[in-house]
Amino acid sequence: MPFAHITGWGMHVPEPVLTNDDIAKLVETNDEWIRGRTGIRERHIARENEFPSTLGVEAALKALQVANLAPTELDLIICTSSSPEYIFPATACLIQDQIGATKAGAFDLLAACSGFIYATNMAAQAIRSGSIKNALVIGSETLSRFINWKDRNTCILFGDGAGAFVLQASDKPGGVLSAVMHSDGSGADLLTLPGGGSRYPATETTIHEGKHYVSMDGKEVFRFATRVMGHATQESLQLAGLTTNDIQWIIPHQANYRIIETAAKYLKLPMEKFVVNVDRYGNTSTASIPIATVEAIEGGKVKSGDKIVFVGFGAGLTWGAMTVEWTGPIEPKKTIYPQQYRLFARLRSWLRRALRFIEGIFFRRVCTQRLSGSERQKRTG
Ligand code: UT7
Repeated sequence: MPFAHITGWGMHVPEPVLTNDDIAKLVETNDEWIRGRTGIRERHIARENEFPSTLGVEAALKALQVANLAPTELDLIICTSSSPEYIFPATACLIQDQIGATKAGAFDLLAACSGFIYATNMAAQAIRSGSIKNALVIGSETLSRFINWKDRNTCILFGDGAGAFVLQASDKPGGVLSAVMHSDGSGADLLTLPGGGSRYPATETTIHEGKHYVSMDGKEVFRFATRVMGHATQESLQLAGLTTNDIQWIIPHQANYRIIETAAKYLKLPMEKFVVNVDRYGNTSTASIPIATVEAIEGGKVKSGDKIVFVGFGAGLTWGAMTVEWTGPIEPKKTIYPQQYRLFARLRSWLRRALRFIEGIFFRRVCTQRLSGSERQKRTG
């Protein structure tokens, strides 16, 4: 059975930064309160022309560059997002088209902030089954579009951004060692974006009632998160046959510094073992774990051979953890420049649209001819 190694990683955040002081101009709050209760100082907010696919493409191309893998070599793309571009089509398909991943299957996975762990596990399982060799997993968010900037409970928390991993099959032991996934739908109402789905399709009333905004019972989500983070970490470690003594890093979902601190206390680990960057990005939901991972690698923290636990929780309720032996990029045979595939992808996409348009004209003409032919037959026969 092949092993699923994480061989590429990339992140991208939009440039504009919103500080706590900026938010204090919108709602009754202040920098001291936000920093004290959450650890957040600032977050990045997508510009009008930036969407989960645009941010996701940037992160994906960087991950492919690290893995030295051409987009055309990808077999599978999974995008996970709490703020997908559309209900359908999947954001993964938009990314597939923009990076020119010509032979990849693509779908979205929704498990809110636990999504990146779920999606990475699905990609790893597909690789371990032998059915695919190369997968791309992307967590991408523009949650700022669904935030009520008059609600101080939620508007202080979230930020936009994207992160991506490339997973590849290898005979060498290591890579994804274990994963656990959990859910409890009885807590579905604690963190939700009710509007725009089939229960509350967009109407004047749903908009008036603010159903298209994130709604959250912060205290309950906090209680739930502190209960599950440490426990899920231990479960995943146990499955991998390891203990907390064997791991170098825990990379948790970046929601709130105090939640991470509680998990550290539960696991009897110093905070130095945890990768934390919630102060600069806020909660980027599905993107928070890969963004923290990329920063930890680029900052020289995570090294080849390190054992790491990813752990997260989110709406659903969902939670999960994954234990990984970090391998880094597989030795390249030749250098690939995934950015160059972009132009080719744009051209290919344009040609396919043009071809579809021309085919449509012919198809309509043939149909009209057949229809008038059978009408003539009916009249004469
Ligand atoms: O990916 C998962 C996403 N969600 C989460 O991770 C959320 C988890 N929950 C949290 O992080 C915390 O519950 C919050 C940061 C949202 C809130 O912190 P808290 O310590 O649970 O505060 P609280 O809701 O208990 O509110 C305490 C006080 C209240 O005032 P009173 O009733 O004690 O007078 C609030 O009205 O703080 C007030 N408050 C604020 N004050 C200044 C609530 N939000 C704010 C604010 N600025 N932004």
